[in-house]
Amino acid sequence: MSSHSSAIAYRLEAARSVVRDAGQLAMAMRPAPGGPAGTQKSAQDWLTETDGAVEAFIADRMKTLFPEDGFQGEEGGVARDGQLRWVVDPIDGTSNYARGRNRWCVSLGLLDGDRPVAGVIEAPALGEVYTAHVGHGAFLNGKRIQVSPVKEPASAMIEMGWSNRVPREVFMEKMDAIMRLGAMPRSGGSGALALADVACGRLDGYIEIVINLWDVAAALPLLAEVGASVSPFLANGGLTGPATILAANPHIAEALSAAVSIPLK
Ligand code: IPD
Repeated sequence: MSSHSSAIAYRLEAARSVVRDAGQLAMAMRPAPGGPAGTQKSAQDWLTETDGAVEAFIADRMKTLFPEDGFQGEEGGVARDGQLRWVVDPIDGTSNYARGRNRWCVSLGLLDGDRPVAGVIEAPALGEVYTAHVGHGAFLNGKRIQVSPVKEPASAMIEMGWSNRVPREVFMEKMDAIMRLGAMPRSGGSGALALADVACGRLDGYIEIVINLWDVAAALPLLAEVGASVSPFLANGGLTGPATILAANPHIAEALSAAVSIPLK
């Protein structure tokens, strides 16, 4: 392993442990099942006390461990610049978390300049952790993962992320295209976990019209490692602002891309 690669591997190991502790903090603070606990940033956009607490916990630990690295959080924005930059979504799937549901995760990605190089996605209520180091594999609970072999849209399951940032007509048009293709639709409330599902073959594709770097930063290395087809999210503005993403198993990517008019190049 080169010294650069060893530095990333070392960081991934540290991140794994920090995210595990952060996940436990989130579990301890998780609301009971019921109506949403938290405040609404805008219609259907939730913020819980845990988002802030988990981000502060991770920011603090990473600053102590790797003070020379950059750091960016969903809640706090870019706190430090650096050639290596951590990007955290403290709770991805906040709308689920706020109602005591299980489908949410803590997501921590590592970029080298504008290249995603490693990521950890921990879903404590599901008992699952995804890890990836580009060039060294992608894993779910320590077992290597791969994309699904599904080729036929009639056997495919495709998820589309929803947020209030996308006009209703646009969401309906893309969802309609997915269903016309013959695929089974889903929308599960966590972009990071949906992309991880594509990487491990539980989904055949995921699209979201407006999504942010912190939602995808930890998933991009997973997708790269398993050879998933991914639209150029970062090159299309995702490094600095919201952008569109399509990720799919390579057998179905072209058909999905054509159906929903999201180019793969
Ligand atoms: C949201 C989730 C959701 C996606 C939204 C994100 P948050 O992140 O990932 O699935 O559709 O675009 O904003 O608010 O739960 O961190």
